[in-house]
Amino acid sequence: MSEKEFIPAPYTTLKEEGTVSYSSPSNIALVKYWGKRENQIPANPSISFTLAACVTKTSVQYKKKAKKSEEFSFDLFFEGEAKEEFKPKINTFLKRIEVYLPFLKEYHFVINTSNSFPHSSGIASSASGMSALALCFMEMERTFLKNLSEEHFNRKVSFLSRLGSGSACRSIEGPLVQWGETASIEGSSNLFGIKYPYKVHEVFNNFHDTILLVDKGEKQVSSTVGHELMHGHPFAAQRFDQAHTNLEKLKSVLTDGSLDTFINIVESEALTLHAMMMTSNPYFILMKPNTLSIINAIWKFRQESNTHVCFTLDAGANVHVLYPENEKDIVFPFIKEKLVPFCQNGQYICDRIGLGAKKL
Ligand code: DP6
Repeated sequence: MSEKEFIPAPYTTLKEEGTVSYSSPSNIALVKYWGKRENQIPANPSISFTLAACVTKTSVQYKKKAKKSEEFSFDLFFEGEAKEEFKPKINTFLKRIEVYLPFLKEYHFVINTSNSFPHSSGIASSASGMSALALCFMEMERTFLKNLSEEHFNRKVSFLSRLGSGSACRSIEGPLVQWGETASIEGSSNLFGIKYPYKVHEVFNNFHDTILLVDKGEKQVSSTVGHELMHGHPFAAQRFDQAHTNLEKLKSVLTDGSLDTFINIVESEALTLHAMMMTSNPYFILMKPNTLSIINAIWKFRQESNTHVCFTLDAGANVHVLYPENEKDIVFPFIKEKLVPFCQNGQYICDRIGLGAKKL
């Protein structure tokens, strides 16, 4: 499939006004996307669990203007307050997607958006935020174009979300979404995420992700800059190969449910991501002392308890603690007693694997 297939046929009608609303989740990568080429093409394939509790809710009120304007026209409210500082990012997003949604300059939009998780928690809001916005615009397109198939709708939303933030393309469906071309996954694409197409072992049903908020401060290096630093990185080629291999290994694990191998792949991916940060130039460290204390406590507990609790990290200091449903009565008390003391103000979020975005 090529980008051109996302350029729509001429619209039959353009509605005068209306409102569309969506809730879209965040996701946590098991095999990480780190490094990209032009136009948000990933340097390697990735796969993620879609989350259930961490969501962005966005509603877009649209009103047709008397005349199509030169610039995009929108007001933006975050948690009820006008947010001028978020507007440039949305403007860049609109510029990137305009060719695929040619109605955008015909309307004035009032965008209202809010997150279920604390704003400065360090939880990536770009995945849920960009996908929620893309869903609202696609819902508009669906009313202008009759007979849009569900499959095309989901693909195009994922495609548009990717242009806002790479990981956002993995937030539309669930419980597992794969993005980036790779030989082991049929139908995989660099342009959009696909619902993981193979059968998944029941041990992954209802998998838990307790997110420990270790550091809520502004990140010292953004993901965008981090991706950039993979250009000319001394280990880039090996890392990109490794992601393909890990995804292929994970495919077997997802079928047979072998949690020991799952843990090995997922933790190795998390540490490799941070190793890439530490070995780029300029180098940087996003983990905090408490991140390491939590990792060590998880390793110790896992050995003593014979459970299958493990961790992953995104581009920050927070720790995602993953464990199966049938171990929650042993693992959760451990998290509360031994890990939560390492969190900033004792804050954590109980999340679990989810099924994707919802129309509101
Ligand atoms: C470490 O999707 O935030 O979370 O495409 O520049 O918006 P942009 O980057 P972003 O990168 C996410 C990186 C990651 C790993 C992952 O989610 O796969």
